[in-house]
Amino acid sequence: MNILILGSGGREAAIAACLEKEGRTVYALPGNGGIANSIPGSAVDRDAVLAACRKYDISYCVVTPDDPLAAGMVDYLQEHGIPCFGPTARAARIESSKAFAKDLMHRYGIPTAKAMTFSSLDQALAFVRTLKTFPVVIKADGLALGKGVSIVQDLEEAAQMLRAMMEDGRFGSAGRTVVIEEFLTGPEVSVLSFTDGRTIIPMVSAMDHKRACDNDQGPNTGGMGTIAPNPYYTEEVAKECMEKIFLPTLSALRKEGCPFSGCLYFGLMLTQDGPKVIEYNARFGDPETQVVLPLLQGDLLEIMTACTDGTLDKVRISFSDEACCCVILASEGYPGRYEKGRPITIDGPLEGQIRIAGALRNGNGDLVTNGGRVLGIVAKAPTLAQAVEAAYRDVEKIHFEGCQFRHDIGRRALEA
Ligand code: AMP
Ligand code: GLY
Repeated sequence: MNILILGSGGREAAIAACLEKEGRTVYALPGNGGIANSIPGSAVDRDAVLAACRKYDISYCVVTPDDPLAAGMVDYLQEHGIPCFGPTARAARIESSKAFAKDLMHRYGIPTAKAMTFSSLDQALAFVRTLKTFPVVIKADGLALGKGVSIVQDLEEAAQMLRAMMEDGRFGSAGRTVVIEEFLTGPEVSVLSFTDGRTIIPMVSAMDHKRACDNDQGPNTGGMGTIAPNPYYTEEVAKECMEKIFLPTLSALRKEGCPFSGCLYFGLMLTQDGPKVIEYNARFGDPETQVVLPLLQGDLLEIMTACTDGTLDKVRISFSDEACCCVILASEGYPGRYEKGRPITIDGPLEGQIRIAGALRNGNGDLVTNGGRVLGIVAKAPTLAQAVEAAYRDVEKIHFEGCQFRHDIGRRALEA
């Protein structure tokens, strides 16, 4: 059986590692320098993807990144007879339009930050002038590579950000509509789940580290490291999330005529008033996936196809009670501008796994940097402290010029 994964990150490398088994060949498009069978091309180019499916005799496609999902890749491939893991474009709006997600949560009573949506700059400005407390959070409606969220400290900063997004086109069309929302505080938890639209099976919880620098300083990034499980996500919190957030979200999407199948990601904040949704993703998160999948027991393909076929209630899924830590090594300058093409060397055997992301093989077959987040180091151990130590011992063995990483992945979880 031949399987195709669309995407090119460390997450895709982690999924590929889980799907590989005797009798299966796993391809990735465009893949990267660490995934065998990478097929050049663009994951949003429908015709190229369909042509690759035909050429490589693909019988199942895992559509991983946000942009092909939002553009309807699953709808398109399924119309052409290729079953997929992932939601339709209409269901993926839960991520691709924050205004859609907010409206859904408001109408179905799903706990989230209070918010207002604006497409008119004048109305948005008039609204922020009435606010008595700052900070507030301004979010681009559409997909913005994880950079579309700003926390503004006063009226002046709010007005500047609204003009930049709604008038000057920062984030392009994604920022012409904005969501302005209440600033919440509390520990953050990422919960990825498998769902076929009716049955939902949450995976082990994770904690992302989104800021670029130690102690949560510096700009927001796609994620600089993760640990699993997240110690703040107790059984009691999990139960509350299932009742008040997970099941109501699935049911809301069904009632809206766009049932969700695939991996539904809940970005949660555990506030004094209980867990609230910060964001949904219509896909596996990265780098969360890199720490969650190594703890999964069972065959990922069997679970994925059950999501596609609507038979998830028949599948048993369990997670190991070990812990996992992922430290991302990034290019100097990330999430801003960075150089590419820097040679990567690895000294000797690693204790954990290396998940290549923004790196490729040059003409000589050598691994060189090619993206912001270059690779993830993933270690699994009986305790979180051991996993963190093992990951950082491996980090010492990887070298490239300008390598940038956080030194405190897992620290907050260990102190919890
Ligand atoms: P998002 O892309 O929506 O997950 O937002 C990125 C990050 O911004 C989140 O992980 C939070 O740390 C922060 N954030 C988003 N919304 C809020 C909010 N309403 N209150 C406080 N922080 C937020
Ligand atoms: N790590 C968060 C995300 O994948 O969006």
